[in-house]
Amino acid sequence: MAPDNQIEEIKRKTDIVEIIGEYVDLKKAGRNYKGLCPFHGEKTPSFMVSQELQIFKCFGCSVGGDVYKFLEDYEKIDFPQALKILADRAGVKLRPLGGFAGYEEKEELYKVNFLTAEFYHYLLAEHPLGEVARQYLANRGITLETVKLFKIGFAPDRSDTLFNFLGKKRGYKPEIIVKAGLSVLRNGQYFDRFRGRVIFPLSDHYGNILGFSGRVIKDGGEIAKYINSPDTLVYKKGNNLFGLNITKQDIKKAGFAIVVEGEFDLLSSYQAGVKNVVAIKGSAFTPEQAQLVSRFCSQVYLALDADFAGDQAARRGIDILKKAGVDIRVVKMGDGAKDPDDFARSDPEGWEKVVKEGEGIYDFLIRTAFSKFDAQTTEGKEKISRELSPILAGIEDEIVKASCMKTVAGRLGVPEEAVVRQVRKHQAAFTQQGGESIPAKMEEKSRREILEETLLGLILQSPNLEKFDGVFKTNKALRLAQTLPNWGKDKFDPGEFAASLPAELRDFFGEVFFAYSDSSSLKIEEEIEEIKKEIEILDLRERILQITRDIAQRESTEDPETLRILTEELDCAAKNLGKLENE
Ligand code: CTP
Ligand code: MN
Repeated sequence: MAPDNQIEEIKRKTDIVEIIGEYVDLKKAGRNYKGLCPFHGEKTPSFMVSQELQIFKCFGCSVGGDVYKFLEDYEKIDFPQALKILADRAGVKLRPLGGFAGYEEKEELYKVNFLTAEFYHYLLAEHPLGEVARQYLANRGITLETVKLFKIGFAPDRSDTLFNFLGKKRGYKPEIIVKAGLSVLRNGQYFDRFRGRVIFPLSDHYGNILGFSGRVIKDGGEIAKYINSPDTLVYKKGNNLFGLNITKQDIKKAGFAIVVEGEFDLLSSYQAGVKNVVAIKGSAFTPEQAQLVSRFCSQVYLALDADFAGDQAARRGIDILKKAGVDIRVVKMGDGAKDPDDFARSDPEGWEKVVKEGEGIYDFLIRTAFSKFDAQTTEGKEKISRELSPILAGIEDEIVKASCMKTVAGRLGVPEEAVVRQVRKHQAAFTQQGGESIPAKMEEKSRREILEETLLGLILQSPNLEKFDGVFKTNKALRLAQTLPNWGKDKFDPGEFAASLPAELRDFFGEVFFAYSDSSSLKIEEEIEEIKKEIEILDLRERILQITRDIAQRESTEDPETLRILTEELDCAAKNLGKLENE
């Protein structure tokens, strides 16, 4: 791995316009270059490249970054590979080491995994040994094309096929093979971990192979249906999503990701033409997966086991997704306990249709609670109350919450007031937990981020920062705004300014700067005022939410004086909000 200064040196010796120009037809547009985005299908160009800043950005699908990032995404390679390519072009000889600790070891594991995937894939696609697996996959409706695309493989039911291949044919030491989780050492002997199984490579979204899962070919034995690689230096259970490296472009295009349980669910959906899918492989959604998926879309359609909502872990998964600002819908799979695999295979058009008809998460949760318990009996009502009250309490949007409470009250045949009070009990618990479990904070924050970035972008067209004290609250926007006043308006050179920034602010600056390089100068002052107002409204809304929560909490502790003050403040904030909104 090259030292940081070489990374910079190579970048200096490279022109991003020239590199991207080899892939994309770029036309000069003002001070930037414009073209059709290679990462999503589009007919009017929204893909911009700046020579001054040496970055690119697409306003259609929001990919962006420097020249390394472009190559990584376009060529589906990782950073070191992009570095090598550009170093060669720039005539820079890479000095090894220096970079990230453990880098070379990781690289070695990627390589072993890659070879393993190729080997298993070869056995499946071409070798006589693979016949049993070819038959198995054919029976499950998996086409050869799919096998190739996902590089599906076959591990024969023998103890050391892979170990011999990697060791004897490729010269890998046993320690590395074990480190990669591919073999295990037992009583002084090495055994292949995967035997008699169809093999799925598990990749990160760039396509680096991190590990594998294997499904038994002969059902019904004592052994586990699926086994996975153990945690290694590069694989960690729950950190990735099966299929994402292949389906990420489809996900971006669709604007949402369909989340299914298993490998076959994904493959069958893909074959049915519904390609924006990822698989969580049986576990509940983790924060890492939520973060990952939210890089490609802002909406997730859960197509999981019908009773997933009853499961505590799955519930947490829902909260995690909400926290990441991801909007959740649920695919109604109907009765008959079909999984997406069966569904997509037996009725491809039907599958596409039910996906489109995804139901809002709260409607879904309410509906399932009522289908599980009998709302006619007192006992049933209690169970429904227990299941739904905490869920209702967790709904951030007051309008959505009110509407859900009304539905629940109606279906239980009780006064709405009763539901409101029951929910409020849980509300207090929510707030006392320190508030981290209140999810929509993130949503609002990201809205704030959008507004602040817009404002910054406009300001960059007419830098006059004195008026903006106290407006910025999100980290990057605030930091950038604080750096700006040091730059006089007339000598503002974006390239030079960008170069003076630390790396993470530089990318951020680039994005913000790009977004407005086209906007007409006439309206800028007006627009700035508009956005400032939006931010004020947001401030007030957040304040009101906070006070409402404080009041809810106090009501149970009976503190009339504080309650009175809070109520007054609430009135005042509400009045101001009303004024601003009606202006
Ligand atoms: N899984 C796993 N380890 C297990 C069991 C399941 O990793 N011991 C994962 C697999 O990715 C599996 C998913 O959880 O696809 C869902 O499990 P399950 O519903 O039991 O299997 P199916 O997906 O229906 O598997 P198949 O269709 O191959 O029978
Ligand atoms: Mn199945």
